[in-house]
Amino acid sequence: MYRMLLDIPESYPTERLIVRAYRDGDGPMYWEMAQRNRDHLFPFEAHNPVRSLQSEYEAENLVREFAAKWEFRQQFFLGAFDRQDGAFAAQIYIGATNWDVGEFIVGYFVDVDHEGMGYVTEAVKGALAFIFDHLQAQRVILHCSDANPRSAQVARRCGFVEEGHLRQNITMANGQRCGEFYFGLLREEYLQQQI
Ligand SMILES: CC(C)(COP(=O)(O)OP(=O)(O)OC[C@H]1O[C@@H](n2cnc3c(N)ncnc32)[C@H](O)[C@@H]1OP(=O)(O)O)[C@@H](O)C(=O)NCCC(=O)NCCS
Repeated sequence: MYRMLLDIPESYPTERLIVRAYRDGDGPMYWEMAQRNRDHLFPFEAHNPVRSLQSEYEAENLVREFAAKWEFRQQFFLGAFDRQDGAFAAQIYIGATNWDVGEFIVGYFVDVDHEGMGYVTEAVKGALAFIFDHLQAQRVILHCSDANPRSAQVARRCGFVEEGHLRQNITMANGQRCGEFYFGLLREEYLQQQI
């Protein structure tokens, strides 16, 4: 697989969202978003770099790092923006875990003011088309805490199959122990869902 030769679009539309790669100049928006979401991300994403940003400059630096990782086809960070008002609604992360077998991992968080509206499910369904069609994936995986039912619901709504359940393998930010669900979706399962 000559990954640098793949023609990968920098955005995709969904019914209510434009989901796109971050770009130069997104720093102020990202900084504002980071401040709004710091507490919201604490329980399940305590180590997300969004939470440690200290300034607009750091945010601009981070979005440019995202763009560099995209360029080298290592990681794909996308912002999902409301088509009506342009507001940041969610972030989608796609990581190349194994280009040789065509395996990618998906992650996400929703903006605190956009939770419970179906935006993440919508953006992840669009991400699956992006991954299977443009990255030529054979398999997409998703890991989430077993103490995070909202996240597991996103996986199930998007058609992922539970492949494993690790028990008490994580200590959460609040000190409590939890386990982890391992979800997977194969190319043929995805194609069947599209019929
Ligand atoms: C996990 C997380 C992304 C889930 O976000 P979410 O907004 O609940 O997810 P969805 O976009 O799928 O929204 C689902 C809700 O929208 C409702 N909804 C409204 N319109 C909808 C539509 N068109 N389609 C689907 N659901 C819709 C659903 O009924 C559901 O409501 P409920 O929560 O009352 O059951 C979010 O809680 C989050 O970011 N948490 C913090 C970070 C985190 O946990 N990240 C994941 C780490 S693995």
